[in-house]
Amino acid sequence: MSIQLNRIDCFYGANQALFDITLDCPAGETLVLLGPSGAGKSSLLRVLNLLEMPRAGRLTIAGNQFDFKQAPGEKAIRELRQNVGMVFQQYNLWPHLTVRQNLIEAPCRVLALSRTLANARADKLLDRLRLTDFADRFPLHLSGGQQQRVAIARALMMEPQVLLFDEPTAALDPEITAQIVSIIRELAETGITQVIVTHEVEVARKTASRIVYMENGHIVEQGDASHFAKPRTEAFAHYLSH
Ligand SMILES: Nc1ncnc2c1ncn2[C@@H]1O[C@H](COP(=O)(O)OP(=O)(O)OP(=O)(O)O)[C@@H](O)[C@H]1O
Ligand SMILES: [Mg+2]
Repeated sequence: MSIQLNRIDCFYGANQALFDITLDCPAGETLVLLGPSGAGKSSLLRVLNLLEMPRAGRLTIAGNQFDFKQAPGEKAIRELRQNVGMVFQQYNLWPHLTVRQNLIEAPCRVLALSRTLANARADKLLDRLRLTDFADRFPLHLSGGQQQRVAIARALMMEPQVLLFDEPTAALDPEITAQIVSIIRELAETGITQVIVTHEVEVARKTASRIVYMENGHIVEQGDASHFAKPRTEAFAHYLSH
């Protein structure tokens, strides 16, 4: 089991954003989180690499285990983040570094990978994400879709077991959305576990092997991709219908 959450509660100050979240996601699956705005999708995604700290419950992810009765230590959080990569909606690329430098920075610094090895790893990913021609450009001189692909390549440089995406196709036109969908499907073939937040039901249908449907901080429905054709709750059926 790559990801397991058990009875997770999460708060922003006095406001509870996640209620009693329990879910299982086996290794190698592509799990899509769906639900209306404010449902808690991003909060749940951020819990998976402890950008948000739950107040209660247990999390197991990529071999790292946390029981939130105690606050996790810095070292445990660092180890978790080496195994669980995040692709942010705003890409968060370093504007003063070229594409190649964006890729090799963290592996050289955090994993102490030699520059030669990091560059070799970068070359493979630049090729795989069709970015070879842009290696020496700065992020601001790339389109949104290209920046998104750089953000994915940068996350993959750490060779994570789990990759998290928050709205990877927001603000992208249909052609670029299709490219990102096919990249997610190619990555699924490599055996990596992916968790994707999206508003776009079509993107979800094309990528998900498992789904979690949320409303108001609660999981309403979860299961395999058969739930798209055969939703088990009125709420998810209604969500899918528009
Ligand atoms: N940093 C924050 N501080 C306080 N409250 C927050 C914060 N982030 C989110 N919330 C609240 O937590 C709840 C869940 O928000 P979250 O961003 O997880 O929803 P979402 O499903 O990702 O929504 P969207 O589809 O609009 O991105 C909302 O009520 C939101 O207002
Ligand atoms: Mg969100």
